[in-house]
Amino acid sequence: MKIALAADHAGFDLKEEIKKHLETQGDKYKILDYGTFSSEQSVDYPDWGFKAANAVKEGNADYAILFCGTGIGMSIVANKVKGIRCALCHDHFTAAMSRRHNNANALAVGSRVLGSGIAKEIVDTWLAEKFEEGRHGKRLEKIESYEALHAGEHFKKETSDGGRTVVIDHPLVCHKIGLMRDKNTSSKDFRDLVQEVAGLMVYEITRQLPLEEIEIETPLEKTRVQTLSGKKLAIVPVLRAGLGMVEGILKLVPNAKVGHIGLYRDPQTLQPVDYYCKLPKDISDRDIFVVDPMLATGGSAVAAVSHIKKVGGKRISLVCLLSAPEGIEKFHEVHPDVDIYTAAVDPHLNDHGYIVPGLGDAGDRLFGTK
Ligand code: RB5
Repeated sequence: MKIALAADHAGFDLKEEIKKHLETQGDKYKILDYGTFSSEQSVDYPDWGFKAANAVKEGNADYAILFCGTGIGMSIVANKVKGIRCALCHDHFTAAMSRRHNNANALAVGSRVLGSGIAKEIVDTWLAEKFEEGRHGKRLEKIESYEALHAGEHFKKETSDGGRTVVIDHPLVCHKIGLMRDKNTSSKDFRDLVQEVAGLMVYEITRQLPLEEIEIETPLEKTRVQTLSGKKLAIVPVLRAGLGMVEGILKLVPNAKVGHIGLYRDPQTLQPVDYYCKLPKDISDRDIFVVDPMLATGGSAVAAVSHIKKVGGKRISLVCLLSAPEGIEKFHEVHPDVDIYTAAVDPHLNDHGYIVPGLGDAGDRLFGTK
């Protein structure tokens, strides 16, 4: 079991004692010490706590144990990191319960609160306990779901190749997405909502369009104003659900050209095959927005963008309404250079590849099919 340790100057001595205590238990624990490395110099606990908490988040450690004067600062820090459930414990009971009921993956203790003897016992208790699942699992899912929808992590998350995931969580967008999720929303209302959300997203997806100054005359005098500098845009809906977003976008950028790409899944290879593709001739000169309401497994978005790149598309963004973390990951694995704009990120996919809680099949809901 890999344990990440971190402390500030106040927690340093206790960290060293706990490290020794764990290391004397043979091969049971592999200790990853993220510092600090002395009690002499006053340091800031976030600088060390984030390192250990991120080690857990990134899968480099199974658990983190964090030390500062009270444990409070370290617990606040760790709980800012996505997926971390840090428990501040100063007694055996809370230590045990934080594992059994909360599946805590980080423990914070205060060196100015506890003696090292009891701190060792608390650490041992905490490491020995197991999560009880059941009703407690459902509660943790609610926390994860909140994190996926609201945590800052997804905002402008960037791959090493610069592809960002931008969550457009404007209150109007959130409100309309909520209406779309409702199974009682009619096809007509659903269609309207898809257009409206796609239109609202234009505000963000066009943020990087360049401007130039021109001279005009107001009714009072000549002045210089900013105008879009003739950037050429293309909207490429992935058939068929992507069609639902086109009009909403065109209302705001009426000069954009519209291409189309249709894909189906080959029943033998299970790979997406494009059965239709018609793009503007000058596609390589255009800023391309590939639109598809749902980024679920990522298969069709990956294939659509691969195809557009193959025929010369260079500056491409993917615009979706709902995404699953699995789809984002897969898409950025293959296209780390492409921005993803999405109105929401749901917690996960179900066994059938549907986004959960999602909104069902966007194509069916748009066109009233089943
Ligand atoms: C450092 O003096 C102290 O503030 C810090 O270790 C911790 O207790 C903060 O929560």
